[in-house]
Order: sequence, then structure tokens, then C-alpha cells
Amino acid sequence: MIGQDLASIAQAMVAPGKGILAADESSPTIKKRFDAIGTESTEENRRTYREMLFTTPAMANYISGVILFDETIRQSCADGTPFVKFLGDLGVVPGIKVDKGAKPLAGFPGETVTEGLDGLRERLEEYYSLGARFSKWRAVITIGDAMGDAIPSDFCLRANAHALARYAALCQEAKIVPIVEPEVLMDGGHTLERCEIVTAAALDALFEQLEAHRVDLTGIVLKPNMVISGTECADRAGVQEVAEATVRCLKAHVPEAVPGIAFLSGGQSAEEATAHLGAMNALGKHPWQLTFSYGRALQAPALSAWKGDPANFEAGQKALFKRAKLNGLARQGEYSPSLEAA
Ligand code: 13P
Repeated sequence: MIGQDLASIAQAMVAPGKGILAADESSPTIKKRFDAIGTESTEENRRTYREMLFTTPAMANYISGVILFDETIRQSCADGTPFVKFLGDLGVVPGIKVDKGAKPLAGFPGETVTEGLDGLRERLEEYYSLGARFSKWRAVITIGDAMGDAIPSDFCLRANAHALARYAALCQEAKIVPIVEPEVLMDGGHTLERCEIVTAAALDALFEQLEAHRVDLTGIVLKPNMVISGTECADRAGVQEVAEATVRCLKAHVPEAVPGIAFLSGGQSAEEATAHLGAMNALGKHPWQLTFSYGRALQAPALSAWKGDPANFEAGQKALFKRAKLNGLARQGEYSPSLEAA
């Protein structure tokens, strides 16, 4: 039985051998994913797809929590069991995405700030009553330049950190553990070194604001990007280099009071995301748990195995189980690429 205080919930979310399944795609995002497999994005298809994921046999051996979308937290399995109850009975903590998306930051071309603070206190109260015990808010930081100025600007980092901290404080007031996600995007031709500098600045801005907003760091989970070369970078860094740079950056910029760090996959391939996590955990013991909170890197193989066809329900579950298990091993430093073939 998981304790109800913030620190106990946060620890359960980053429990050894487990990580988080991000299944909180907004309606436009899930439509994009379904378009790619030629499946219509109807409410029933979305429900069926999420039921396939959540009822994967033995998933709870490797998955500690699931992030849901507003529509999904109100849905049920075909037999009428609400998803939240189904997951809770397995010891999987239900969570909810509460941000309203990244919107253009006025006056700062090419940069965004995440919206969703208005009415958040009331929404959190409802989500708690629906069974959510953690939540997610994603800030989006772009690396690049706009009209000759390098981005991100300091102002963009501060605006996003301020919103993340206001969100986190409201969550803790509502007894909900905030996943705090400052995502530095992989898009672009930047080097790993530039990603490290920007990630460090984003983390510094974030922890300054969390402290100012009196957020209890023992009751949050940090969800950062890895320190990684841009997708268009001519000379992309290898697995070991990404692992070392990421751990170095986190050690220098994340307080040890934070119980766990659960990475996003951000457009990495499923295998790449697992290999990076495995290499980081193989580096030795870290001050915080280092785990995954993947969306695409857990779901992509399941989506393509399923293709919207009921006959592929079990194939989709097998594909998700494989990724969950390999990431569970990676999170313990026990992954090797040779396991992919098994
Ligand atoms: P990806 O792993 O696909 O980046 O998604 C994780 C997530 O929840 C982003 O907010």
C-alpha cells in the first residue's frame, strides 16, 4: 500500500525497477499518432487503445505510474471498470496532464510559454476526487535563433520556470505530486555541448523558482530531457557521451532532495532511449533515482503492432511489455542491446 503523503507517492513513482508510462497525448497529438497507422481518432478508438496499453499483462512489474489525459481519466475498460480503479488495483499510480499546452510567448518570436494556471486549483481538486495522485506540466524550450538572437532567451527560461513553480505549488496544496517537466527540444542542428549549457540554465531557473514558491522538493518528480545532440547535428554524440553529459549536468544542477528524475524520450527511437537510460544507470549510484517517463519510446512499437485492428490487441500489448521490461532493466543498469533480440 502506497502512503498518501507527497514524498511517499513520489518515491512510489520512481520505485526501483520501474518507470512511468506517459499516455497523456492531447486530442490533436493522439490524432497525429493514429493518422500514422491509418486509424481514425474516435473517442472509442482512443479508449480501446488506452485499454490495450493499461491491461497489458504484468505491465505493473515495470510501470509505477501512468499519465492520463482529461478524456482518459474519465474512461473505463470495456467491462465497465474505470481506468483509474483498474490501475490503482495493480498498484500503478494514476496521474493527469494539467497544462494547456505551449503557446507563443508574446514579444519573443520562436519561443513559447506553457498555459493552464487559471482555474488550476479547482481542476486539481476534481482530478484528486477522480483518483489522480500526481500530475504533469510540460514547458517547452527551443534551441536555435530567431531574427539573429540566440534562443532560448533568459526571459523565456524564467517565464516557464515561474509557471512550472506556480503549478507545482498548487499541486502540492492539493496533495498531488507535480511532475515538473522543462523540456529542451532535440529539434535543430545544435551540438551536445549547447544542449548541456541550455539544460543547465533551464534547471537553474527552475530550481530558483521552485524554492521561491516554497515547493517541497521531496514531493516532486523532475522530468527533464537528456543532454543530447540535436536531430540535425552533423556529428551526433554516442550513447556513452550522452550518458556522461546528462549525469554531469544533473549532478551540478539538481538538488539531492529531489527523490527521482524520470526522463522524457523527446523523439529518440525506442532503442536509443533505453540504451541512454541503461548507460546512465551503469555509471554507478546517483543521488536520486534515474528512471523513465516515456511516451513515444514506450508506445511507438505498440502502436505500429496494433494498427487499430482488434486482431492485433495482444501483439500491441507484447510490444509495450517488451519496452517496459527493457526500460525497467535499463533503469537498474542491467540493459544490453543484445536483449533487444530476445
Ligand atoms: P515523449 O517520451 O514522447 O517525449 O513524451 C513524454 C511526455 O510526457 C512529454 O510531455
